[in-house]
Amino acid sequence: MAMADSIPPAAMVAVVGAGAMGAGIAQVAAQAGHRVMLLDSRPGAAADAVRRLAATFDALAAKGRMGEDDAHAAAGRLVAVDAPADCAGASLVVEAIVEDLAVKRELFAAFEAVVADDAILASNTSSLSITALAAGMKRPDRIAGMHFFNPAPLMPLVEVVRGLATEPLVADTLFATAAAWGKTPVHAASTPGFIVNRCARPFYGEALRLLAERAADPATIDAVMREAGGFRMGPFELMDLIGHDVNYAVTRSVWEATFHDPRYAPSGIQRELVAAGHLGRKSGRGFYDHSPGAAPAVAATSPPESAATRVAIHGEPGVLKPLLARMAAAGTVVQKRPMHSLFPDGAIDAGAAWIVLTDGRTASARAAATGAANLVLLDLALDYSTAKRIAVSAADNCPAQAVATAIGVLQHAGLAVSRIDDVAGLAVMRTVAMLVNEAADAAMQGIATPSDIDLAMQKGVNYPRGPLAWGDAVGAARIGATMANLAAHYGEDRYRVSPRLARAAQTGGRLAG
Ligand code: NAI
Repeated sequence: MAMADSIPPAAMVAVVGAGAMGAGIAQVAAQAGHRVMLLDSRPGAAADAVRRLAATFDALAAKGRMGEDDAHAAAGRLVAVDAPADCAGASLVVEAIVEDLAVKRELFAAFEAVVADDAILASNTSSLSITALAAGMKRPDRIAGMHFFNPAPLMPLVEVVRGLATEPLVADTLFATAAAWGKTPVHAASTPGFIVNRCARPFYGEALRLLAERAADPATIDAVMREAGGFRMGPFELMDLIGHDVNYAVTRSVWEATFHDPRYAPSGIQRELVAAGHLGRKSGRGFYDHSPGAAPAVAATSPPESAATRVAIHGEPGVLKPLLARMAAAGTVVQKRPMHSLFPDGAIDAGAAWIVLTDGRTASARAAATGAANLVLLDLALDYSTAKRIAVSAADNCPAQAVATAIGVLQHAGLAVSRIDDVAGLAVMRTVAMLVNEAADAAMQGIATPSDIDLAMQKGVNYPRGPLAWGDAVGAARIGATMANLAAHYGEDRYRVSPRLARAAQTGGRLAG
């Protein structure tokens, strides 16, 4: 495939909106060598941003991250201007103004009247349809999304979004330009939430559902998602950081743009937090108390239990193989046994307890189906050989001795154990299954290639693994079964299985590109 050329560094770039995103984008473009015109409707805002950016470049030079001459030159390339006509020579206009379709269209119309025929008009919108933005313009083919992540100078991902009318060469030029600016670009079709804001919905949605079910408190779920799931931040601390007003607005916008698909429905918990003004860190309170001197919330961790000295693995260990190796390394004798008829997917016999990886059913359902009341369910971990913590659950009628035995053998292998309530799919498995499912649907619908989806989730929201590659690592069959069981338990509306996941589960095909 021939690569389109990037916008050459000698070309002028106009950035409209000198707020958090516009200033960041202007910084990136100026550092890449462009002369950058910065424009804002609020008097003085662009000039203020230019001054702040000059100070930023000085600070980068003082820290040794930029040469002094480069910093000086970059600052010198930034100019505050007053009107679109001042940007007539721009080859690229990136708008990062208020998130309002009518206002953005008016802005593009003003620029369309002044820039050259081959100039590209790009929007940093995170939620509006690029197709709708371009409609009504004289040249909708040269309009595309160039979606940066906050903070733009630090976050590597740029989603290059094409609307129905976008000329492929325009998207390719933006892609090459973002790459030349040191970013990691991906291509995406204009659909609600593009890649990241759509595919990340389950990370918040499942956490909110778990909380609504009283599976555990936020600090415990966050610790499990970090220390077993390998996510850099837990969902509740991340929502507190993003701000509930912002996150609730994004959730609502994707939900509304999908004709109220229940899969994306917001949570009443979010609405209440916003109504109360508990917006997270910025207001001092959200799921957590962020006021100065507040005691940090502590995850619920099971007290030490005595450990069984031997366990037996029945059948194939599958993804639990590294856990068994870890148990063996800790001195537990691990024996191999043939598959047990009750547990065709494998199970660990710890004497008083069966330890079984969740398949999306509750422990109550599995205990009832097998007649094994002493069944303890284990959550998924990103990597069982390095996980610090693991969540377990058990049916109400599970003997206390069985729970203690399962916890003891996991603790002996060096894991902190958080017992959560008997919810379907526990925390990490349920969230990962939904993330895989969402990514599989996005790939099926051609919103982006499987590899761009995985790259976007790693570079845009720091996931430890791309969701599709994660699905392959756990196995499409197990993820598919987990989704089907969640659908049976909670309803098809939210947990319906992606046809692409179902196919991979049935054929043993791969999800990732
Ligand atoms: P902001 O509120 O910090 O900045 C917006 C700026 O645009 C303000 O300085 C405002 O005076 C100016 N402005 C408003 N209407 C204007 C007009 N008609 N002409 C010229 N300037 C105008 O907003 P922020 O956070 O920088 O967001 C800007 C855009 O970037 C929005 O479309 C938003 O959805 C998108 N975005 C925001 C992200 C974020 O995390 N804040 C992330 C990615 C995209």
